[in-house]
Amino acid sequence: TSTRTRALAESASSAAYAPNPDFDFDSLGFGLTETDEMWVAESGDDGAYAGGGMNAFGPITVSPAAQVINYGQSIFEGMKAQRSPDGNILLFRPTENAARFAAGAARMSMPAVPEEVFVRGVEETVRANASYVPPHGKGTLYLRPLLMGTGPILGLGPAPSYTFLVYCSPVGAYFKGGQLTPIKLVVEEHFHRAAPGGMGGTKAAGNYSPVLVTQLSAKKEGYADVLYLDAVENKYIEEVSSCNIFVRKGKSIKTPPLGGTILPGITRKSVIELARSKGYDVEETPVSVTELLDADEVFTTGTAVVVCPVGSITYKGKEVVYGDASDPGPTTMEIYDALTSIQAGTAEDTFGWVHPV
Ligand code: COI
Repeated sequence: TSTRTRALAESASSAAYAPNPDFDFDSLGFGLTETDEMWVAESGDDGAYAGGGMNAFGPITVSPAAQVINYGQSIFEGMKAQRSPDGNILLFRPTENAARFAAGAARMSMPAVPEEVFVRGVEETVRANASYVPPHGKGTLYLRPLLMGTGPILGLGPAPSYTFLVYCSPVGAYFKGGQLTPIKLVVEEHFHRAAPGGMGGTKAAGNYSPVLVTQLSAKKEGYADVLYLDAVENKYIEEVSSCNIFVRKGKSIKTPPLGGTILPGITRKSVIELARSKGYDVEETPVSVTELLDADEVFTTGTAVVVCPVGSITYKGKEVVYGDASDPGPTTMEIYDALTSIQAGTAEDTFGWVHPV
């Protein structure tokens, strides 16, 4: 442990654990606020990322020949730390992120970050930036773990060395209308996000920018985001650019299965467990556009978006509205309340999901 890391750990146990009284936590959106510290670990000879420590947040230096810059060997995670009403800071299911990060590393031929190293890097980043964790109810500290092939290489091959880095930013609602304002989605009929056998199931950096061409034009037309269809039949829904999707009809909830073409969301997995515990019949099964348009209620899930109501979906130029389009549906609210009260420490953590820092 570096001297800097130790000093930070000591200060985190004192007043620095409380929210910074001079920071404006009232107008947070999902944008970057640079915080003080970031965790950086290099792969090292044994590939174990063992020598990590806190560094001042700031630019990192890599060769122009860094693998990540040339060939995109890079994965990331999204996590949140939030404050309970009594001021404690809670992470949500961090070992699930560690497992997904390790699976993604394997898919991208990178040496995986061991679970304990991953969780420690995240915890120390939270402690070192604890004053940026918003007061209870005012947002969260979004954590962004990265794993990148930072070593130089010219021919196509895996990087000779890797960097595991965790930075963070206080955030509010992901979509600009606010957390529980229903969003308008449009079904994309021409571009696909992922194909069978591809890397859609990996949280790779390269999965995200290809959505921009469709997302930006959809935004210009007033949609919050785009819903992708399967690449084989162009008939089954897959996921939204930044989140998974669920449809409800009566007591039945369906969400597309994890077949390698959609992100295995940790919020998705948690929502499936929560909905089952509330008596819904939840199936991970292909959902056709027809079923989507015929649903009683639609919502999306993700770390950044949490649980987000869908007010309308446009397919082939025709808009289908759910409920009254301006209020979240009842199941969306039920699941949102159940999930967020566990995450923020206001409900009993019966599933054992909460991880105090
Ligand atoms: C998250 O939900 O944490 C993500 O990584 C999605 C990203 C587009 C913000």
